[in-house]
Amino acid sequence: MNRIKIHLDKRLSESHEICIGYDFQDRIGLLIAKDFPANRYVIVTDSNVSRLYGKAFLEILRELGLTVDLLEFFAGEGSKTMETTLELTSRLLKLGLDRHSLLIALGGGVVGDMTGFVASIYMRSVPFIQIPTTLMAQVDSSIGGKTAVNLPQGKNLLGTFYQPKRIFTDLKFLETLSDEEYLNGLAEIVKYGLIDEPGFFEQLEREVPALRARNREILETVIERSCRIKKGVVEIDEQESGFRRILNFGHTLGHALEAASNFTLAHGKAVALGMIAASRISVYAGFLSPEERDRIEALIGELGLPVRIPEGLSLPDALERLAMDKKKEGSELPFILLKKIGIPFISKEVETSLLEKILGEMTS
Ligand SMILES: NC(=O)c1ccc[n+]([C@@H]2O[C@H](COP(=O)([O-])OP(=O)(O)OC[C@H]3O[C@@H](n4cnc5c(N)ncnc54)[C@H](O)[C@@H]3O)[C@@H](O)[C@H]2O)c1
Ligand SMILES: [Zn+2]
Repeated sequence: MNRIKIHLDKRLSESHEICIGYDFQDRIGLLIAKDFPANRYVIVTDSNVSRLYGKAFLEILRELGLTVDLLEFFAGEGSKTMETTLELTSRLLKLGLDRHSLLIALGGGVVGDMTGFVASIYMRSVPFIQIPTTLMAQVDSSIGGKTAVNLPQGKNLLGTFYQPKRIFTDLKFLETLSDEEYLNGLAEIVKYGLIDEPGFFEQLEREVPALRARNREILETVIERSCRIKKGVVEIDEQESGFRRILNFGHTLGHALEAASNFTLAHGKAVALGMIAASRISVYAGFLSPEERDRIEALIGELGLPVRIPEGLSLPDALERLAMDKKKEGSELPFILLKKIGIPFISKEVETSLLEKILGEMTS
């Protein structure tokens, strides 16, 4: 088991660590019992993860003599709502959970975001632990303390910054992940290769076959490197006053494409397209070299992510969504571009005509 320490400004949050390993759920149980004594524990999970791992993990904790319950909700983004939050809190009240209790988020980003949200507001906050089970959650959503639920008006509109006490990342969970969910996580990993270490990008280029085959050793190094990059950014700007925005690379346009497809385009695929568009814009703006842009597109394509915008997706609709985002942000929508692979910067404005041209190129 490897440990990565996240150092945070103690005026805002407590520093904590990510423990990464393979097939160590018994050890996770023991560490929870030893390091986080509590009067009661509640595992929060979704219907899929509950069936696959929840009940077994409940047993592991019970065998250690802990008082534990498991709460589950129906799997999927559709459950990340205030309704589910209220239902969870009323079940926590019934179980007698108080501020000496501990919540355990066992699942993907939906479980993590919502459990973190509940933990941050239930009785003015109770401690919680993240056990991410998707690749996306292991390299991205479990780290950094952003919690949220969706509103009918949009995604993640209600939320808090609230850090977990620890993150336990067990790669064994990934073995049951669908290809679609695995690809979603790979897109975020490519993002880290583009916004931080060029050496990491090169490693990804070399390891395409291993990544496609979900080779365990390669995945372990790639996940660990991704976690280090994300934690490095979060340490500098925990509450996103500026620098943390570089983590949105590929996401501004990605979100617009995702929404324009009525969410039939998966997040990772949309982000892959957003990263390609941002690279192309970076070339037009005179920063990135065409050779580097081609390497980015090649890596994305070879990993099995899309490089072309699917037919039937309305570009005017996507541009309209961007304009709406722009209104939300004030007059300018920050766009993350690249000077080189591994050197991102926050660009203030991208002309709509240039965006149209690039999206058009990516469709034809
Ligand atoms: N807080 C943050 O900083 C942050 C960052 C990125 C994304 N997010 C949020 O994360 C969410 C997306 O996360 P996600 O992609 O993990 O989605 P998810 O939690 O919905 O999980 C995807 C699917 O995989 C299933 N699943 C989970 N673990 C599994 C396993 N080990 N084996 C088989 N199936 C498994 C789930 O039941 C679900 O059906 C979004 O709501 C997004 O807004 C948050
Ligand atoms: Zn993302």
